[in-house]
Amino acid sequence: MQKQKITFELSIFESIEELAEEDKKLMLTAINARKNAYAPYSQFQVGAAVLMGNGAIVIGSNQENASYPSGLCAERVAVFQAGALYPKGTIKTIAISASSKNYTVDRAAAPCGNCRQSISEYEVKQAHPIRILMMGEVGSVLECDSVADLLPLAFGASFLK
Ligand code: THU
Repeated sequence: MQKQKITFELSIFESIEELAEEDKKLMLTAINARKNAYAPYSQFQVGAAVLMGNGAIVIGSNQENASYPSGLCAERVAVFQAGALYPKGTIKTIAISASSKNYTVDRAAAPCGNCRQSISEYEVKQAHPIRILMMGEVGSVLECDSVADLLPLAFGASFLK
């Protein structure tokens, strides 16, 4: 029997001001995208901004539904829209920002498991890592270099032959 440790590097920025200019712009776009979240049930607004290889930015926000499972997270709204607009494009970075009407979200909101799986699909398809930048409403920004870091041992297309 062998044991293997799976680790990854997380960069922690004290605030959005510490980010490189391009990343700051992307995060500000994600923050702005939160305004169009439709979250009457959870009161939790999430904005996502996807930076494509061609420089285009595609946004998404969570869209809820009275039939709860029919709603969709901001990240998937954004990456599916990116896939629909740029089917041959490369996703470089996704910035995510979350806020709540009930309290101040002061820590980074990492994408949920379903979103990690969906983002992973594009990372495998494009054979290029997708960086993830995450923050709450205020406070620090977390960065990881690949969605694979957030979804070790991912299931993917390679299993389906
Ligand atoms: N949500 C996202 O948009 N992204 C995530 O990664 C986590 C959760 C949304 C879904 C739902 O509208 C609300 O946040 C509460 O779960």
